[in-house]
Parts: sequence; C-alpha cells; structure tokens
Amino acid sequence: PYCYAKNGIIDSSAAQIHPMDIGLIRGYGIFDFLRTSNYVPLFLTDYLDRFIRSADKTHLSLKHSKSELAAIIHDLIKKNDLKDGGIRMLLTGGVSDNHFSPENGDLFIFCETLLFPGKEKYENGVKLLSEEHVRIIADIKTTNYAYPVWLSATWKEKGAEDVIYHFDGMVSESSRSNIFMVKDGEVSTPDKHILHGITRKRVLELAPNTKIRPISFEELLQADELFITSTTKKILPITTIDDKKIGNGAVGPTTKKLMADFVEMEN
Ligand code: PDD
Repeated sequence: PYCYAKNGIIDSSAAQIHPMDIGLIRGYGIFDFLRTSNYVPLFLTDYLDRFIRSADKTHLSLKHSKSELAAIIHDLIKKNDLKDGGIRMLLTGGVSDNHFSPENGDLFIFCETLLFPGKEKYENGVKLLSEEHVRIIADIKTTNYAYPVWLSATWKEKGAEDVIYHFDGMVSESSRSNIFMVKDGEVSTPDKHILHGITRKRVLELAPNTKIRPISFEELLQADELFITSTTKKILPITTIDDKKIGNGAVGPTTKKLMADFVEMEN
C-alpha cells in the first residue's frame, strides 16, 4: 500500500518517524480517522475541519490546506484501490531541543483495512464496563489513548466491547465512541468532556429532537435503549453495562431505526 509521508506519496513500508519525536516520547500528536464507502471518503469535510481544528488547538502547524489534504486523500484512494477502508491522518508533535515543546511535526496519511464489529453484535447489542474517568482536552483528537489501551485487557477479560466513562456521577463517552440514550422515546446525548464525533453529528441530523444535555450514570442505567457511535463502529447497540441489563436487554426500535437510516446516509 501507499501512504503520504515526507511530503509525498510513497510505499507505506518506507514511512519513518524520528524516535525522539514528542509524538512518541511524550504522546503528543493529533490524528483523525475517516472511512471510504465505495471509494467515496465519507463526510470528508467534517473530518478535515476537525483535523485542522485539532492541529490549531494543540499549537501544531499543519502546513497543508484543507483542499491539499483532500487532494492527497483522493489520490491515495485511487492508488490503493481503497473501496471500503479506513484513512488515518496523523500529525506528530515533532522533534525539539528540549524534548518537550511542539515543533514542526510530520504529517502522515495512511490507508487501512477496516473491520467492523460482527453482525451478531449489531443484532444483539454488546456490553460496556463502567469506568470512573474523564478524558483531558477531550475535544481534541490527540493520539493519547494510553489509558484505554491499558484498560482494554480488563474489558476483554470481562467479555465487554469497551468502557463507558463517568466522573462525578456524570457520563461522558466511551473510549473511542460517543454515547446516546433513549428513554420513553426521547433521545439524549451528553456534550461535556467528549470528542465531538462526526458519527454523533450525523445521528443528531437523523434525530434532530435529540436533547444535548448532562446525563448521570444512574440515569443511563435506567435507559430503555443505549447505543454508541463512531467511524469504526457506526451505530452499535449497548444492551448491558457491567452486569446490568439495559431496558429489556434487546436492541430497541429507536436504535434499529437510526441504524437503518444511517445506512441510507452512507450510500
Ligand atoms: N475514535 N470519542 C472518542 C474519544 C474517539 O476517539 C472517537 C473516534 C469518537 C467518535 O468520533 P467519530 O464518530 O468522529 O469517529 C468519540 C476513532 C474512530 C478511533 O480512535 O478509532
């Protein structure tokens, strides 16, 4: 496969990063992740806007304009024959004298194969483990996922798909997805301490009456339906949190309707 690195499109195996890049030694960098559907980079403008905003907020200088990034992505899709796959944009913190300050980092754009959760997970829903945690600078898509990577051993051992973060009694999001709840037909989603997901944005368009509001962990457990949203999971139903069944334990009608509507949106 081909990737973008060192200001050009090269063979992915030739991509390199300096070992002293603060992306590696301090976990300081930003990324974004989108996917193609039948060769079309879905919702590209939203992802590019977020990537540029992340660079801005982390004081990293992205030398490429939005249209330059889009051109590289279209070129890579063609060269890699990427019909349905993932595209990762990565901007590292760079190499600096004090091994701490952000400097001119490197931009990489990779194409990846993309594996969605299995069909049975969409049909039956999955389990999340609750975790007392709040992400820092949550609305910037930084490369710092050390905590959930570390946690994943525990959630896998307990048969969970992922975690749901709560702090001070309030829910924020899952480790790599946003969360929505449905109660008495009303859809709600939290807004604080989250990454503003592009999939979340699409769901808000599909369900414009959604209440964007604080949600307590106690309230979440009493929901009729729950689902998480992300580029790599689309809309994935949650039927268990820890050992508590959500609603009647089956995927609910509002979730099913949104899943079907979202498929329409992708095509
Ligand atoms: N994760 N919240 C966090 C912390 C995320 O990392 C992500 C995305 C989301 C959902 O955003 P979107 O709908 O734009 O994908 C929410 C990517 C997919 C990942 O790290 O794998």
